[in-house]
Amino acid sequence: MLISFEGIDGSGKSTQLELAREWLAGLGYDVLLTREPGGTSAGEAIRELLLNPKSHLTGRAEFLLYSASRAQLVEDVLAPHLKKPRSIALVDRFADSSTVYQGVGRMLGIEAVQEVNDFATGNLQPELTLYLDVDYETSLARRKTSGGAPDRLEQNPREFFEAVRAAYIELCTAYPERMVRIDARESAENVFQQVRAAISSRLPN
Ligand code: TYD
Repeated sequence: MLISFEGIDGSGKSTQLELAREWLAGLGYDVLLTREPGGTSAGEAIRELLLNPKSHLTGRAEFLLYSASRAQLVEDVLAPHLKKPRSIALVDRFADSSTVYQGVGRMLGIEAVQEVNDFATGNLQPELTLYLDVDYETSLARRKTSGGAPDRLEQNPREFFEAVRAAYIELCTAYPERMVRIDARESAENVFQQVRAAISSRLPN
């Protein structure tokens, strides 16, 4: 089972992914946790390039780099893991990130992006996508407390993140079977209760 976690920067995905990993491993699943961009050595090199504020990338070049990292991750890591018995792969971002950040944020168009996403993933789709919804102010406050200089994507203006958030919300409406919108403004514990409930309802008995 492939489960992706999505949300704007500072939505608290990493904390929830870690909690989910511990809980599912405790239930006896073979759990893999990985991230995009990254998760393979080529992917991590691509990640450096993408997040470095010194990289000057056009929207299309940026999108194809995210896609390259994703293609590598699917073939090298996700597909082999998912062949194993009782396996679950948790991914910190997947194709929906490109749909909203590049398709909408960079205005490349949702349909064009989804076509390339399908090519990059060989049509591998998450069974479940947890979208952690936070407003811009909350995400900014969390980013500040986690420290560090803003990466290339985080340097985008408020309007970029508002557009990305609106696009995530629309995706949840468009794919109600796969996507679950979670109110992620609450404490990590309360958010995890929602995450656990959504995953539990999809686990095989
Ligand atoms: P990361 O530090 O992992 O951000 P976060 O902790 O918020 O997930 O950086 C990933 C950045 O790349 C993030 O700003 C979102 C962006 N991104 C895209 O624009 N398109 C994509 O397809 C993916 C996977 C990420």
